[in-house]
Amino acid sequence: MQNIVLIGFMGTGKSTVGKRLAQALAWDFVDTDNEIGEITNLSVTEIFRRHGETRFRSEESIVVARLSQLDHIVIATGGGTVLNPLNWKALAHKGTVIGLHASLEEILNRIGHKNDRPLLKGSKEEIEKLWSERQGCYAQADYMIDTSQKNIDEVVSEILTILRRLNNNEFSGIAND
Ligand code: S3P
Repeated sequence: MQNIVLIGFMGTGKSTVGKRLAQALAWDFVDTDNEIGEITNLSVTEIFRRHGETRFRSEESIVVARLSQLDHIVIATGGGTVLNPLNWKALAHKGTVIGLHASLEEILNRIGHKNDRPLLKGSKEEIEKLWSERQGCYAQADYMIDTSQKNIDEVVSEILTILRRLNNNEFSGIAND
């Protein structure tokens, strides 16, 4: 196994879990949204506002292509990254893909008070539509974890258990928290 790729809808905890997981593995952590911010010098919100989603997706694919060449990193993707089959293929080629799931209610609870995401500005119905449309894609992950009722430590520990099962030698010495 060379990389771990976290996918899932906005608010499922990809970045927080990814950081903690990378610490536990002593691997580097990369967040595709942060990388896009670094190369464009703009926040995700600003890219959407000034240049639109198409430009954001094209920057995202450039970042994915580069990250997919690296080894032993934990990658937290944006919620829409793997909807592009080419991104999925590149990330999955060298990585174990772990899908983080959360119910729509839980997601709305989590992001409710600090919602700066351009694609979550619509009505509850619009968000629900986006969430529903994407579930089939996320479900193709190598492993799915329902985070709805779990805290970060529990999710990280579940991923570490999966990794130990997958590769006893490489991960046998990793602490469980
Ligand atoms: C998006 C998710 C966001 C960010 C952008 C688009 C999406 O990332 O990439 O706003 O299409 O779901 P997070 O999932 O980290 O919020």
